[in-house]
Amino acid sequence: MEKLLGLLILVVYNCLQTSARPQSRQPEQVHLSLGVKPSQMVVTWLTQDDVNATVMVEYGTQLGQYQYQALGQTTVFVDGGAGQTVRYIHRAKMVVAPGQRYFYHVGSNAGWSNMFYFNTLPAGTNISYKVCIFGDLGIVNGVSFGRLQRDAQRGAFDLVIHVGDFAYDLSAENGTWGDQFMRQIEPIAAYVPYMVVAGNHEETYNYSNYVNLFTMPNSSDNQYYSFDMGPVHFVALSTEYYGFFYKYGLTPVFNQFKWLNDDLAKANQNRDNVPWILTYMHRPLYCSNENSEECMGLDNDLIRNGVPGVPGLEDTFNTHAIDFGFWGHEHSYERMWPVYNRNVYNQSADPYHNAPAPIYVVTGSAGCYSLHAGFDQDPAPWSAVRALDYGYSILTVYNYTHLYLQQISDDKNGAVIDSLWITKDRNHYYNAVYRNSLRSVHIPKPKRSENHVFMDDSNEIH
Ligand SMILES: *[C@@H]1O[C@H](CO)[C@@H](O)[C@H](O)[C@H]1NC(C)=O
Ligand SMILES: *[C@@H]1O[C@H](CO)[C@@H](O)[C@H](O)[C@H]1NC(C)=O
Ligand SMILES: *[C@@H]1O[C@H](CO)[C@@H](O)[C@H](O)[C@H]1NC(C)=O
Ligand SMILES: *[C@@H]1O[C@H](CO)[C@@H](O)[C@H](O)[C@H]1NC(C)=O
Ligand SMILES: *[C@@H]1O[C@H](CO)[C@@H](O)[C@H](O)[C@H]1NC(C)=O
Ligand SMILES: *[C@@H]1O[C@H](CO)[C@@H](O)[C@H](O)[C@H]1NC(C)=O
Ligand SMILES: *[C@@H]1O[C@H](CO)[C@@H](O)[C@H](O)[C@H]1NC(C)=O
Ligand SMILES: [Fe+2]
Repeated sequence: MEKLLGLLILVVYNCLQTSARPQSRQPEQVHLSLGVKPSQMVVTWLTQDDVNATVMVEYGTQLGQYQYQALGQTTVFVDGGAGQTVRYIHRAKMVVAPGQRYFYHVGSNAGWSNMFYFNTLPAGTNISYKVCIFGDLGIVNGVSFGRLQRDAQRGAFDLVIHVGDFAYDLSAENGTWGDQFMRQIEPIAAYVPYMVVAGNHEETYNYSNYVNLFTMPNSSDNQYYSFDMGPVHFVALSTEYYGFFYKYGLTPVFNQFKWLNDDLAKANQNRDNVPWILTYMHRPLYCSNENSEECMGLDNDLIRNGVPGVPGLEDTFNTHAIDFGFWGHEHSYERMWPVYNRNVYNQSADPYHNAPAPIYVVTGSAGCYSLHAGFDQDPAPWSAVRALDYGYSILTVYNYTHLYLQQISDDKNGAVIDSLWITKDRNHYYNAVYRNSLRSVHIPKPKRSENHVFMDDSNEIH
């Protein structure tokens, strides 16, 4: 009996001895993004502990045979929360050829991920592919996750663009909400490049969770960047530089603005080769949700028009004849008529053929804890279609002259609730002369009675 008791004590003691904090040198949160050059595919992953070994991606075009290796670089990321949790973020660049399927896994001698695969697009600018675009996806009420994960793996789209607001928030609970979010996007983002831009929910600790978790094509700053894919030039911009200027100053706004003008000028020099210009960012320039402060208020005005000494974005967009702006922030879908400076261009038989101003789409309904945004009773004059359904947008790029936009509803089992062709003639780009030759409906600015004060948007729900 005594012997038995002794043995029991020994067993309990040994268990206590080994119940130290678990270590994980296991790769997790594997996700792809486009590199600076079309011949690069970047993979980013995370380990909770230091792997103390050479990290790498092994990849190749044959199932399970990894012909190539690329060494990774590790960043030690200390979360800004009270826990000061340390995470190890690994990044590696694969060199890839067009029109191939690649199989890959990431890790080190301390542990390897599962095997994943991705496809590269054919070479050239006259190619067809699909982009999935949405914003505002959280780990509470993340309605679109299931359909996005399934469809990514069956090749329903070739690129994902998440226009800000992740997890709600990446930084929550010492960054563990970020861990869960990044694990939940792996079934999408390990197969299809996942391109991002920060929303107001990423501002915490000077954007550090966003900056560390994602790798975007500009290694010095992942808040704004551009890339070409086939006939489309994509431009990602931060609206949060405007939204949080009172905290971080205006220098980021000026830097981004200068970069944007240079980038769009270059894109226009190459326009006959890459005729479409698509911008994406978090906060909308136009919308008609019931929290009209966000759609009509000064902070929204600031991004669109600027104030004396601070440049807004709308004029630059129109000077450089961009075709699209995709936005989130409002938890709804709203497609605008072509609109510039409160002039609505919807008087022609097909306003989306040779549109004389940008086509803007709010697509922030992928699902988050604060449910739908709700609309003002009357649509805004620039609003063409509105829907509160959860879901996301699919933009099919056909060629130099034809694109097709669809809005997918999760509430209606994947049904398409809005669709339209966006077309333009070969080598046709709008300018002020062309725009002024078309009829438009001008919407005067409402008179404002209250004095607007800038709010601290970090506590805002959208
Ligand atoms: C990695 O090495 C450092 C010192 O070289 C050590 O303190 C740490 O415990 C090691 N980590 C792991 C997970 O082995
Ligand atoms: C964050 O970590 C600290 C230190 O471990 C802990 O005291 C705190 O409760 C954690 N916070 C949350 C929200 O988990
Ligand atoms: C683009 O490619 C399609 C075939 O995919 C071809 O029919 C078309 O002529 C090409 N257009 C140009 C301008 O090269
Ligand atoms: C925020 O981070 C950037 C670098 O990402 C740095 O340049 C800037 O000084 C930081 N701002 C504050 C207020 O910490
Ligand atoms: C990267 O961002 C920096 C600003 O942080 C900018 O000066 C630079 O031009 C960008 N580089 C590219 C390739 O876009
Ligand atoms: C165009 O927009 C104006 C202003 O919102 C609206 O009154 C009109 O009905 C619209 N026209 C069409 C064809 O939808
Ligand atoms: C562009 O794509 C559209 C839609 O598939 C097609 O009708 C059109 O003929 C294509 N144009 C060229 C030049 O291939
Ligand atoms: Fe937001």
